[in-house]
Amino acid sequence: MILSGDRPESIADAVRALAAGELVGMPTETVYGLAADACNDVAVAKIFSAKGRPSDHPLIVHVANAAEVSQFAQHVPKFAQSLMDVFWPGPLTLILPRRPEVGATCAGGQDSIGLRCPSHSVALALLKACADAGIAGLAAPSANQFGRISPTTAAHVQAEMGDDLLILDGGACTVGIESTIIDCTRGAPVLLRPGVLTRAQLASACGCPVLERDAPTLQATAGPRASGTLASHYAPNATLRLMDAQALQAAATLLEAEMRAAKIGAPKVALYSRVPVASSTPSLLQRRMPNDAAQTARELFAVLRDFDARGVKLIWVETPPASSDWDGVRDRLQRAAS
Ligand code: TXA
Ligand code: MG
Repeated sequence: MILSGDRPESIADAVRALAAGELVGMPTETVYGLAADACNDVAVAKIFSAKGRPSDHPLIVHVANAAEVSQFAQHVPKFAQSLMDVFWPGPLTLILPRRPEVGATCAGGQDSIGLRCPSHSVALALLKACADAGIAGLAAPSANQFGRISPTTAAHVQAEMGDDLLILDGGACTVGIESTIIDCTRGAPVLLRPGVLTRAQLASACGCPVLERDAPTLQATAGPRASGTLASHYAPNATLRLMDAQALQAAATLLEAEMRAAKIGAPKVALYSRVPVASSTPSLLQRRMPNDAAQTARELFAVLRDFDARGVKLIWVETPPASSDWDGVRDRLQRAAS
């Protein structure tokens, strides 16, 4: 059932459900999450089973403010504190050394924990009300079935999780792709998952460069697992291919010729590109990708879901530009294409 997240009664209902060990669909500025009391192992186990997610894939714990971090993290490196100061509340998750006595189930057995303070007003209202009720943090992965596209509206969550789940409606997510993840357990900041924050923004907040996950100078680690870093993830039902503008036009021209020759059963192909592509076949569904990375991030998952809903079998996407502001969108599209 979907409840308006703006109403205090809905927040109270959600807190009651969470305190009883139930799950709640929670809006955030990035994507919708499937939330449970992070310190209730039985409730956290329900997240893994509802998503079909392997239990060794760690979850992010959402907190109402930076002061709550010490409940879960053993130690906060200076550069991590700077990142929090600059970007929280906001679309940034920090992996920190975990207090051994808390969050083991959330952490999927890691000795670290992912923490984030989201900026969505409904998420913050829920987290504050939870803190008042003695719930220090909400474990919440994206509210989709494992491997599928993250939801960016309450209706998407309902389509993924069914009608029984209490979902707080907070409108369409304004960021649209998942948070940037920085591992802060290795002596230097390491980028595990790109989001909408650019490398330059992150480095300037840290006061040092942000390293790649396989940088040779890093302290050894057991290698944190991140499902968002699996080669194949965020997959629509249709097959997705990335192509440059020239290849897209060539493919569209070929499709048009084939469709003219075909008598029946025209396959539906969707095209999502910044360049205009000339084609007159009705088998090709065209949608323009914004020239702006943030705008593309905001609509990306909804666009892919819409193509699936129209029964498209193939999605041809123009490769995003190489600049850093497109890192998050490019990452999601590459995984969707794998
Ligand atoms: O924007 C977001 O981050 C959304 C919203 C709901 O906050 N959440 C999200 O959660 O994307 P999820 O579970 O779909 O992705 C979390 C990622 C996973 O790739 C997970 O493996 C990684 O964070 N992660 C969490 N805790 C970790 C840890 N201790 N070490 C390494 N990776 C971790
Ligand atoms: Mg996810």
